[in-house]
Amino acid sequence: MFNFPLWPERASGIAGNVDALFIFLLIVSGMMSLLIFACILFFAARYRNRPNVQAEQIEGSLPLELTWTIIPFCIFIVIFLWGAVVYFQERTPPRDTAEIYTVAKQWMWKFEHAEGQRELNELHVPVGRDVKMIMTSQDVIHSFFVPAFRIKQDVLPGRYTVAWFRATKPGTYHLFCAEYCGTQHSGMIGTVVVMEPAQYEAWMSGGSTGPLSVTGEKIFAELGCVTCHRSDTEGRGPNLQGVFGKPVQLQDGRTVTADENYLRECILDPGAKRVKGFQPIMPTFQGLVSEEQVNALVAYIKSLSAAKPADGANSSAESTPQSKQVQGSQVN
Ligand code: CUA
Repeated sequence: MFNFPLWPERASGIAGNVDALFIFLLIVSGMMSLLIFACILFFAARYRNRPNVQAEQIEGSLPLELTWTIIPFCIFIVIFLWGAVVYFQERTPPRDTAEIYTVAKQWMWKFEHAEGQRELNELHVPVGRDVKMIMTSQDVIHSFFVPAFRIKQDVLPGRYTVAWFRATKPGTYHLFCAEYCGTQHSGMIGTVVVMEPAQYEAWMSGGSTGPLSVTGEKIFAELGCVTCHRSDTEGRGPNLQGVFGKPVQLQDGRTVTADENYLRECILDPGAKRVKGFQPIMPTFQGLVSEEQVNALVAYIKSLSAAKPADGANSSAESTPQSKQVQGSQVN
C-alpha cells in the first residue's frame, strides 16, 4: 500500500495521518455504495411487479428508522472527530520551528530563510526539522500546495498565513499554486528539496546576505523607525524590545497579541490598532516597503524578544502597565 502508484509520495510527518483518514473515507464510501447497489438489485428482483400479487403498504418501522439514523450518526461523528484531530495537528505549528518567509506573486514563489538565504521557486529544507512557512502575497490570492507533505494553505495579500511541516524523507517534491491566480497560474510551480542535515548545512553556508533579522535591523535604521521606537521608555513610539508574542493594550481598550500579523499591520496601517498611550503620529509605510522588507522588519522585531515564543499563541499574560503600553521583558 505504501507504494500505491495513485498516491503522491508520503514525505512529511502528517502525511500518514491524512492518508489514513482519506482511506477510511474511501472504504466507508465504497462500502455504502456497494450496499446501496446490492439493495437496489435485491429489492428490484424481490419486489418486482408480478401478476396477481397486490402491493402491500408499509407504514413505517421504528427499529428500522432508529438503525439507519444511529449508525450513520456514529460514522459521521467518527469522521468529524478524526478530521478535527488531523486538522488541528496540521494547523498548529510546534514551538521552535525553522521559519521561512514566503512571498507569492504572479507567478512565482519567493522564499527567504531566517538565516538570510533567498530562493526562487525552489525551497531547500532539512529532513526531520519542523519548518514554519510565514506567507503573504504581493498581489492576488495564491495557495501553497505540496502534495507529498499533504499541506495546502491559501496565501493572501495583506496578511500572513502560516503552514508547517516536518519533512521525513530526502528527495525532490512538487510545489504547486493551488488557487487560480491569473494566466500563468499553471506555471506557478516549484520544487521542495529535502536534504540530509549535513547536506543542508553545506547548502546553508553558501552565499547569504546575512540573517533576515539583521537585514531588518538595517531597514529599521534606514527608515528612521529607530528614532521613535527607542529601546527605552523615552521614545515617541512603543519600545519594541520583547514585544513579540506578548499582549498589547490598544488605545480603544482592546488587547491583542503582538504576533506576526499584528506587527505587519502596524507597519502598513499604524492607525488601525494603536498602542495605548501613544499619539497617532506614525506614518504608514504602505507602498514604501516591499513585502520582503516587511518580512525582514518583522523578523527583526521578533529577534528583539529574548525567549522566542513559537508564535503568538503562547503569550504569557504579564501585567501590562496602564500608561505605557507594551513593556515586555528586556533583552539581556
Ligand atoms: Cu498563484 Cu495560482
